[in-house]
Amino acid sequence: MELIQAKDYQDMSQRACSLVLERLRGMEDPVLGLATGSTPEGMYNCLIEAYRKGEASFNNLTTFNLDEYVGLKKEHPKSYHSYMKEKLFKHINIGEDQIHLPNGTAVDLDSECLEYEKLIKNAGKIDLQILGIGLNGHIGFNEPGTSFESRTHMVELDESTRKANARFFSSIEEVPKKAVTMGIGTILDSKEIILLVSGKNKAAALARLLKGEVSESFPASALGEHPNTIIIADESSLNS
Ligand code: GLP
Repeated sequence: MELIQAKDYQDMSQRACSLVLERLRGMEDPVLGLATGSTPEGMYNCLIEAYRKGEASFNNLTTFNLDEYVGLKKEHPKSYHSYMKEKLFKHINIGEDQIHLPNGTAVDLDSECLEYEKLIKNAGKIDLQILGIGLNGHIGFNEPGTSFESRTHMVELDESTRKANARFFSSIEEVPKKAVTMGIGTILDSKEIILLVSGKNKAAALARLLKGEVSESFPASALGEHPNTIIIADESSLNS
């Protein structure tokens, strides 16, 4: 794992954005894995700005998001479908047929998971996967204890994860209890991974990751087994 130390959130976001744009420019039909949460928002803003300035185009891009809540319709304001639309997709030149997120309201969620894996496989490998990290070390919605070989699957969210994500909802009761997420094995199949880490509250998780002990009790440690991972972390997450 390579570590890039960024000054602050803005710097982390810009470095991530520059890396993404550099990689996209070098590829004919890039496949990008995307994440939600507060952490990648600055990077998305930077990508939008590059598009507005005519410095980036996304018409040959295919995207796959990591996860979606079970039970929220695509149109629900707190669904990850809505997040991606609001934070990125509606601002750039990308069409519905280019973007993929799991359907958290599928009648048969097991088939939905298999179908999502198939879609990723048919697109070839994910060239570059963007990740954030949960307070308990989760990646996507893979909570502690998830097998490193897992593929897209349905998960019960930890109480700590629901609490951490309650800030996006009016109350914790509204936070769904389940989600569909790419598995850790699915994530590790990506050719390259960029993990973004920002803020004091992520310091403990980052320190544990950098210690290098690989264990299923700490999902992000799976990245230690990936040959091509870059961590971009800001000072507050490194020095707290
Ligand atoms: C959420 C998402 C993850 C995200 C993580 C951190 O639960 N499923 O993909 O990386 O939490 O979120 P944030 O960036 O808001 O701290």
